[in-house]
Amino acid sequence: MLLAQITDTHIVDPATDAELFVDNNQRLALAVARLNAETIRPEAVLATGDLTENGTVAEMRALAELLDPLNIPVLALPGNHDRRSTFRDTFHMPWATDDGHLGWVVDLSELRVIGLDTVVPDSDRGLLDAERSRWLADALDEAGDRPTAIAMHHPPFHSGIHWMDAMPLDGMDTFSQIVAGRKNLTRIFCGHLHRPLVSTVGGVTTTVGISTVVHVELNLDPAAPVELIRDPVGYQLHRFDGTHWVTHTRYIDTGEVPIRPSS
Ligand SMILES: [Fe+2]
Ligand SMILES: [Fe+2]
Repeated sequence: MLLAQITDTHIVDPATDAELFVDNNQRLALAVARLNAETIRPEAVLATGDLTENGTVAEMRALAELLDPLNIPVLALPGNHDRRSTFRDTFHMPWATDDGHLGWVVDLSELRVIGLDTVVPDSDRGLLDAERSRWLADALDEAGDRPTAIAMHHPPFHSGIHWMDAMPLDGMDTFSQIVAGRKNLTRIFCGHLHRPLVSTVGGVTTTVGISTVVHVELNLDPAAPVELIRDPVGYQLHRFDGTHWVTHTRYIDTGEVPIRPSS
């Protein structure tokens, strides 16, 4: 099975003149068109947060319109730029309350996906509090021996990019303890860092998807300034054969098309 992942789409209100380094909304439209054209159709599209810039009603409306042509179901999680109230209404999550989390559990054909909401309202930091720790542990217990993955916005590790690490997941040690030794847990998918990253958390491969807009400049100097870079962007296709995962990256908006070399 294929599981696609888009993240950090940062959709803006088309009626504003908010400063943009790229056309965020057009980039998502390109990603949606390319996802629809995949020859092997992903079973679902994980959307791992920061789907809008400010979580306003107008932005959520724009997001919904941009996602509407997508012919693949979306599994959405909020990020620190989103707002639970508008997110819940747009993605039809009636179980969630304003001060409660939007977590969900979805069964795909060969995989159970646990969507963990790491958002703290009005904060860029993420949090795994006592309630969400219990919820996550219960969800992992209930999965039994079914292959399972976790999706979340804030990565449960430090990236080494200091100004992004200043907006971490508080409670990452607890997270690591909860997931360690879970034989059913096969992968952890994150967003937030606007770069492709791979780590291991509690023995589980943990990746950050690429944003559809701008990336964070790769600079591991502890004194590095806050810098973004217009690296190639797109989405990822995670292929799962029941045991192993392979992650592919699809770039969009490059101006390139496949070339067939003559033999
Ligand atoms: Fe973001
Ligand atoms: Fe974020």
